[in-house]
Amino acid sequence: PSATGVPHLLTDNDLSPKQLSDIIQSACLFKHQAKVLGQSSGAPLAGKTMALMFSKRSTRTRVATETAVAYLGGHAMFLGSQDIQLGVNESLLDTSKVVSSMVDGIMARVGAHSEIETLAKYSTVPIINALSDLYHPTQILADLMTLHELYTPQGQDPHTTAPTSTLKNLRLAWVGDGNNILHSLMLQLPKVGMHITMATPKGYEPNAEILKQAQKNAEAHGTDLEVYHDPKDALRNADIIVTDTWISMGQEEEKKQRLTSFAGYQLTTDLIEKSGAHADWKFLHCLPRKQEEVTDDVFYSPRSHVFQEAENRKWTILACINQLLVKKGF
Ligand code: CP
Ligand code: NVA
Repeated sequence: PSATGVPHLLTDNDLSPKQLSDIIQSACLFKHQAKVLGQSSGAPLAGKTMALMFSKRSTRTRVATETAVAYLGGHAMFLGSQDIQLGVNESLLDTSKVVSSMVDGIMARVGAHSEIETLAKYSTVPIINALSDLYHPTQILADLMTLHELYTPQGQDPHTTAPTSTLKNLRLAWVGDGNNILHSLMLQLPKVGMHITMATPKGYEPNAEILKQAQKNAEAHGTDLEVYHDPKDALRNADIIVTDTWISMGQEEEKKQRLTSFAGYQLTTDLIEKSGAHADWKFLHCLPRKQEEVTDDVFYSPRSHVFQEAENRKWTILACINQLLVKKGF
């Protein structure tokens, strides 16, 4: 919760291990109820509005949020950077006070993480981080839900199985940029008992402060956190392999330099298997994806679960909105 007592989801550390597990399980239950049983939600958000304040493009997060709010019987109002004064022509403080006085929740996609902190400081309604330059917490919830589904033993239902029992001791390897997705992974994985290994080029390591925080989380939960530069070191014994674009939104001007710096970091089946990944390795990617970071033979292989992961953005965001706007807190 913020200083004003309003609950927000701004970074991965806003969720305790129990809250994290509960969200995953709740997301699995929503998926089961909506998709398998075809049940409606009872419209707990009837008459309520969630504002989507997005200063960057989005496919998955936007569609996931708008359809989740619709399922809960509420109204989703998309406010893009071309539509409203989002730190342009008006301060974030003023925008936050005005928008939050009229809506019941805000999903915000921003540039600098400090922008969402400012929004949250002055908002009278819950804010969910829909991506900032430092974190993408709802993405990792979908990743963990997907892994929970994949590792739930046959004959058991993910919505009645504890995520800690399926995810504990799995080893996830990241090869690529030390970016917002890696930061969120580093912070969340220890909370479900997962290990993380990473390889980034020199100069593209994760943020030092967030790494320190992630090391604390790993120590607290007795999980491994290993930092390398050579992709082979990170891939050894990996159960799950993950990457993301080398050029995040806002870094377009660095494209040429980045393509040079990331040479040798492209994930291929050959690199993964020669590095000694687990025989049953699986692949995830938050999307949008470019070919330079992962070849088609990995991305479109049966080991890749990227489209299930993308769909699960909806169920996990639905669970977060339900928690914050219907149940009034995690
Ligand atoms: N993974 C993700 O956040 O995708 P979008 O940018 O399309 O929302
Ligand atoms: N790292 C990417 C993630 C997109 C979902 C970006 O920030 O653009």
